[in-house]
Formats: sequence, structure tokens, C-alpha cells
Amino acid sequence: MLFTPIKIGNLEIPNRVVVAPMCQYSAVDGVMTDWHTQHLMQLGYSGAGLVMIEATAVERVGRITHHCAGLYNEFCAKSLKEIFERAKAVASPNTSFGIQLSHAGRKASSQRPWEGRKSLKDEEDPWPTFSASSIPFDDDWHTPHSMSKNDMDRIKKKFVEAAIMSLQIGFDLIEIHGTHGYLLHQFLSNISNKRSDEYGGSLENRMRFPLEVFGAVKEAVPEGFPLGMRITGTEWEKEGINENEAITFAQKLQQIGCHYLCVSSGGNTPNPKIPIGPHYQVHLAKMMKENTDMVIRTVGMITEPTKANDIIVNQDADMIAIARAFLSNPRWVWDAARTLQYDILVPPQYARRF
Ligand SMILES: Cc1cc2nc3c(=O)[nH]c(=O)nc-3n(C[C@H](O)[C@H](O)[C@H](O)COP(=O)(O)O)c2cc1C
Repeated sequence: MLFTPIKIGNLEIPNRVVVAPMCQYSAVDGVMTDWHTQHLMQLGYSGAGLVMIEATAVERVGRITHHCAGLYNEFCAKSLKEIFERAKAVASPNTSFGIQLSHAGRKASSQRPWEGRKSLKDEEDPWPTFSASSIPFDDDWHTPHSMSKNDMDRIKKKFVEAAIMSLQIGFDLIEIHGTHGYLLHQFLSNISNKRSDEYGGSLENRMRFPLEVFGAVKEAVPEGFPLGMRITGTEWEKEGINENEAITFAQKLQQIGCHYLCVSSGGNTPNPKIPIGPHYQVHLAKMMKENTDMVIRTVGMITEPTKANDIIVNQDADMIAIARAFLSNPRWVWDAARTLQYDILVPPQYARRF
């Protein structure tokens, strides 16, 4: 089952394994570098059906760190196109490439994970951040500007412009980043959104901006072009987005033409109590499969090929995404194919591997 094709919108993907989007924190002013070239080239021929490009900021102040990739000017677009074409040139047959478009909101202007993952200090060239409300992510984090209607219009436009550039570069699929505590998640969550206008308060109001962004991108891409969102199944907090809110949001996305969801969780609060363990988010994907008709992808500590295959066989999800296991073993798919006795094409140069 892991190796059966699947359709998202008008795109046929050769198997159900996805390289999850992974920030490399290695760009210079939004522009990708040699690190990305090698990273995406090796993942391109990994045999995964879909390779997701990392969270890519739609405006400069929407980057998480000084080193995050962006798609907000011609320099970003040029480097991304060159690297994408190199990765595509050596990629496995029919492997698709998708891009995740993102805005970090109040979690922008922070340090790379290996530098501490905190808000940038005065001497680290911080920048002003934006969010639904002026509520910092944690103590000692920047207090974001509560976004005006003009800010919302600007950011919506930036998502659309980045989507158009993604089409021009040739990406096969676009994913809007709606989780892990970044801007659209901040609007959706009662924890970070305390607005008193039509964008805050009720769930209907909190969903408004994320849905407007999705709708604007949807209008900008051709009919049938695969478009999805990474969403929050739960915030693992009493006051936060719970399963019921997540389902309502997912159903609204479906109504406005969303083709697929990747169901993740958490990220909007500093210390949520997440029961981390193998397959800890699969139940959230299953819940979405039971309540929507979109293609549903699951993610989170999926490492064993046989168990990954069971997720598809049991119809808990339609696709699986893997992040960290691909970092330690970019050949995960080849090994999984061997375990599951499926004959996968590997580059002939490497056919004599053990
Ligand atoms: C180095 C690294 C970078 C990540 N960057 C992103 C990102 O750009 N966008 C995103 O939605 N998730 C990101 N994540 C989360 C992963 O996509 C994934 O959801 C998470 O790691 C759980 O999957 P895993 O257990 O297979 O690693 C990142 C994770 C890692 C380890």
C-alpha cells in the first residue's frame, strides 16, 4: 500500500511516502545556498513520492530566523529555481516537489535551533514581528504588533505572489503552513488571538484570516492544481485548538477547494504536554479522514516501514510524511521497499548497493 500511487488534485504521486518540510536555516537573506542544493538533490532521488521544500517565507519579516528561505523577491526566486531544477534533474522518476509557503508571525526574528531557538537579542539584529494580537509567544519573546487590516491585506497578497512565483518555478504542489504556532495558526487559536474585531472571538471569526489566505491562493492557481494546508489537530492545551475546532476548520478548507491536509499539532505555546512517541499524531489524521473527503497525510515519529505501511492499510491516513528519519537515512524509501518486498527503481549508479 505504501507503494501505490495517489492523486492530489490533478497530480498523480507514485507512492505514499513524503519527505516532510524541514527548515535548513542555511539561506542568506532568504536566498537558498549550496547546502540546499545537496539537501534537495539527495532527497530528490530518495524514492519518496513527494519532496516538500521547507517553510519558505512569503515576506522578509515572515522568516523565522535570519537564515530561513524566502520567496519574496527575484533573488530568492532565482536561487530556488536553479536548485529545484538541479534536484529535479537527478530525481527519481515521477517524484513530485511541493513547496510550503509560510509566515512566522510572532515566532519570527528568532535564533536558529543550534543557537538557542530564542527571540533575537538586541545585538542580533532583531526585527518587528506581527500577529493576530500583541501577545508574545513566551517570556522574553518579542511582543508582536497586532495586525491591522492593511497588514492582513499585505500578507495575503504576499502569499499570492509567492504562490505565483512557485508556479513559475515549476513546483508540482503548494502547501500553506497553518500550524506549529506560525502566523495562520496564531489567528486560529484562542490562545494567541484575542482580537475584538471580525477576526477574533468565535471560531468562525478566528478562522476568517487563514481561510481568506487559502482562498486568495486558491484563486491564483489553475483549477485542479494541488493545494493543501498543514494544520493543527490539537494544541494539547485546555484553552487551545481542540479536535472539534480542527475538524470544523478542515471542513471549511474542503468547502473552498483544499485538496489535502497534513495533520500536525502543537507549537503555539512553549511547553504543551505532548505524548510524544511512535505515531503520536496518527489518531489526528484518522479523525480528519473520518470527517472530511480530502487526502490526509500524517506525520510524527514514523520510522518503521511495516508500521508505516499499516497506517495506509488500516486507512488511518492516505500518506505518511517523515522528517528526522530522512536526515539519518536518506535511503529510507529504498530500505522500506526491500522490507515490504516492493521492487523500487534506484539510480543505476547505485544499483550495486548492499
Ligand atoms: C530540522 C527540522 C526542520 C523542520 N522544519 C519544518 C518546516 O519547515 N515546516 C514544517 O511544517 N515542519 C517542519 N518540521 C517538522 C517536521 O516536518 C515534522 O512534522 C516533525 O519533525 C515530526 O516528524 P518526524 O518525527 O518524522 O521528524 C521540521 C522538523 C525538523 C526536524
